[in-house]
Amino acid sequence: MSLTTLGLSATMADYVRTNTLRESEALRALRERTAELENANWSMSPEQGQFMALTAQIAGVKSYLELGCFTGYGALSVASALPSDGRVITCERSEEYAAIAREYWTRAGFADRIEVRMEDALRVLDKLLDEHGEGVMDMVFIDADKKPYPDYYQRAVRLVRPGGLIAVDNAFRGGGVADPADTSKATQAIRDVTITIRDDDRVDMVLVPIADGIILARKR
Ligand code: DHB
Ligand code: MG
Repeated sequence: MSLTTLGLSATMADYVRTNTLRESEALRALRERTAELENANWSMSPEQGQFMALTAQIAGVKSYLELGCFTGYGALSVASALPSDGRVITCERSEEYAAIAREYWTRAGFADRIEVRMEDALRVLDKLLDEHGEGVMDMVFIDADKKPYPDYYQRAVRLVRPGGLIAVDNAFRGGGVADPADTSKATQAIRDVTITIRDDDRVDMVLVPIADGIILARKR
């Protein structure tokens, strides 16, 4: 028992992975392929993938929008957990990363449930709002570029239905959010969106201190 959150030591992180990870062969292969890339740390950990997947299941998600696909680990984690009529839309501007994602989604047999839009995340949000209106998505995962996080959030909260979820990645920014010396615009945007969500009476929210910090918000 603890009155605060324990930092996860390497020993405990190893315990969690060894004793609780359920990762398909396809996801493991994709993780190993992604580890070869220079920006491998942009991918989510397998534990976070498992967390996102279970969160989507708990919320009864059938339509999931991800901002920031990278090599598709998060999209495949969630797509694998949705019912057979569930759909994932994700966005990515790099053809190199999207090609890896498609290859592994196909291998896993989930390519027909995931659509990748090769466009800026903000444009994808605006188009979905234009085409389908408000309250149509079950869950939006905000990742991608950090500076537009406040803009992503304002659109996401309109796009999800009442009872739907918004998850925000990198809420800790590797500890930068609590470091006064970190004055980067990206970190400031994450601080700003955190306070915005806390003070937004359209949602209930919590910051889950796993991985790099994940804000979960549920639209009222
Ligand atoms: C970075 C971005 C991410 O979205 C992430 O999950 C980890 C790291 C980055 O910009 O370094
Ligand atoms: Mg991220």
